[in-house]
Amino acid sequence: MDKAVALTDPAPNALDAFWMPFTANKAFKAHPRLLARAEGMFYWTPEGAPILDGTAGLWCVNAGHGRAEITAAIQAQAATMDFAPVFNLAHPLAFTAASKLALMFPATLDHVFFTNSGSEAVDTALKIALAYQKAIGQGTRTRLIGRERGYHGVGFGGISVGGIVNNRRAFGSLGGVDHLRHTHLPDNAFSIGQPAHGADLADDLERMVALHGAETIAAVIVEPLAGSTGVLVPPQGYLQRLREIATRHGILLIFDEVITAFGRLGAATAADHFGVTPDLIACAKGLTNAAVPMGAVVAASHVHAAIVDDGPAGIELFHGYTYSAHPLAAAAAVATLDLYVAEGLFARAASLAPHFAAAAHSLRGKPHVVDIRSLGLVAGIELASRDGAPGARATELFHRAFDTGLLVRVTGDIVALSPPLIVSEAQIDEIFGRIGEILEQLT
Ligand SMILES: Cc1ncc(COP(=O)(O)O)c(C=O)c1O
Repeated sequence: MDKAVALTDPAPNALDAFWMPFTANKAFKAHPRLLARAEGMFYWTPEGAPILDGTAGLWCVNAGHGRAEITAAIQAQAATMDFAPVFNLAHPLAFTAASKLALMFPATLDHVFFTNSGSEAVDTALKIALAYQKAIGQGTRTRLIGRERGYHGVGFGGISVGGIVNNRRAFGSLGGVDHLRHTHLPDNAFSIGQPAHGADLADDLERMVALHGAETIAAVIVEPLAGSTGVLVPPQGYLQRLREIATRHGILLIFDEVITAFGRLGAATAADHFGVTPDLIACAKGLTNAAVPMGAVVAASHVHAAIVDDGPAGIELFHGYTYSAHPLAAAAAVATLDLYVAEGLFARAASLAPHFAAAAHSLRGKPHVVDIRSLGLVAGIELASRDGAPGARATELFHRAFDTGLLVRVTGDIVALSPPLIVSEAQIDEIFGRIGEILEQLT
């Protein structure tokens, strides 16, 4: 179509211009699946078919869709002040949002740097770690350690410490990074909750110290529970050991809680759930119930003090975004955090976790299932791959589920479930029951 005509009179279903992220564009546009409306536990297609949301959107709509309190807060803020700079100026809701978030997170983590996404939160956390080491006179510590099968978003820092080769293949990596081994061990298949084997994999950090020298290492970053690469639950004792080794060598520990924060594991943070406190937490997604994009880094007091309180006069950290603490996002965050507390949604997730785990593990023995992992309200069901076609079986399951009214997420041949925390026991049964039926039909 002529470009000028397309712009003035776009066909309502013209799919060409939108270059979709992390999507097989050609395949999607040949068979598009669209969402048009959402409320509570459901999406609806443009044709009006309901889709039960087994994934909280993209692990982010923790309080369920279309929450009136959040919508009202965003609307009121948009009508009052659309935008305010936060470089050398600010607006009251930015402080309120930061205070509420700091209160919700572990007590020693008490300063909040706002971003607009999880990727930006990760890159911000990595930069804060480097700035901290420099501020305390440890400027040789520039190396960043990630982990195989880690997903830390798509910034250059995030893809470099991340452990997914496809995310780097076309772009390369920052120098000065290394990776711990991942914690996914065949011996742990079908573990309920935290698996028994693998705490010793944390000793990889000792090996990094022996290999590179502690004086070169600024920080280690892990997802306490790895979500995007297939729901990898940390082995018992693993995170405690990682914390102990990092502390002993002056290495900052960063938790990427973009998925795990805000109730996914039945507590405000995975740090709370596991009883392990990092120096920095990166979060996003559930921070605003995904109603307006927002991310954040929540920093320990010693990190903030070294950079800000003990720093020279003038700007202490040369970093920030035009939209840091955007008024609409700040309004959404305040309303969302209040809603989580008022409805006790994190405790609700904790109380539903045993039922959720039992429903997930009821799929053991179904065709193609080679492992099931779950913790809190997140589960991964791993399928055997078809010969020569990795990912094809789970993708077919995803399509069949959607076409019969259920949204699941797939990564490779792993089906991931992470429903909104308002899910009912009957809906949990429906989610896993439907997956079981589809598994019976799949070749
Ligand atoms: C653990 C983790 N870190 C970072 C990100 C990136 O977040 P965003 O897509 O908001 O940039 C994600 C997204 O799924 C994530 O799961």
